Amino acid sequence: MLELLLLFCAYLIGSIPTAVWVSKGIYGMDIREYGSGNAGATNTFRVLGSKAGTFVMIVDMFKGVLAVRLSYLLSYYHNPDHLTQLVNFQIGLGLAAVVGHIFPIWANFRGGKGIATLFGLVLAIQPLVAICCVGVFLLILSLTRYVSLSSIIASIAFPILILYIFNEPEVFYRIFAIAVALMVVLTHQKNITRLLSGNENKVPLFKNRRT
Ligand code: G3P
Repeated sequence: MLELLLLFCAYLIGSIPTAVWVSKGIYGMDIREYGSGNAGATNTFRVLGSKAGTFVMIVDMFKGVLAVRLSYLLSYYHNPDHLTQLVNFQIGLGLAAVVGHIFPIWANFRGGKGIATLFGLVLAIQPLVAICCVGVFLLILSLTRYVSLSSIIASIAFPILILYIFNEPEVFYRIFAIAVALMVVLTHQKNITRLLSGNENKVPLFKNRRT
């Protein structure tokens, strides 16, 4: 019962529509009506500039970390015998937050693509893997300037790292890693179409604000 309640709390945390609230509350507009229409950090960078984009990115990331940390409230947190159970549940909490980010209850279920929150989740449970994924992301970004392509390739690198580099033995974890890559490809369908047709935005990383 407590587990279900925590999963719901994680969903509510993920549902905090940072980009929507920042764009509406500070700039008097809805970020979903501009740029790519995505309520995420990338589109906030694109439309509102680096300060707003950085803020949205950090908060969205923190939602994933915080959701995982809800597991502190479980009695088996301090029990080493229940380590697998704990990690599996932490993944469940993080995923609930990602679902909340994509389908936020506080913003008519029209949210972002979950990248920053997913990153927060991976950072909380596997920091080294998260750092490797950031490395892949930055490499692709520096080569192409496509945030979407960088996100997709970093997410595909995630299960490769988990399965072949870190040799993760836990089946649930391996399935999770593969599911993440599939989920990111699914949430980036429009980006993939734009990439294939040569119409994807190359994000200017540093811009002051919307004019
Ligand atoms: O994190 C989302 C990013 O990969 C793409 O965002 O706004 O270009 O669709 P956007």
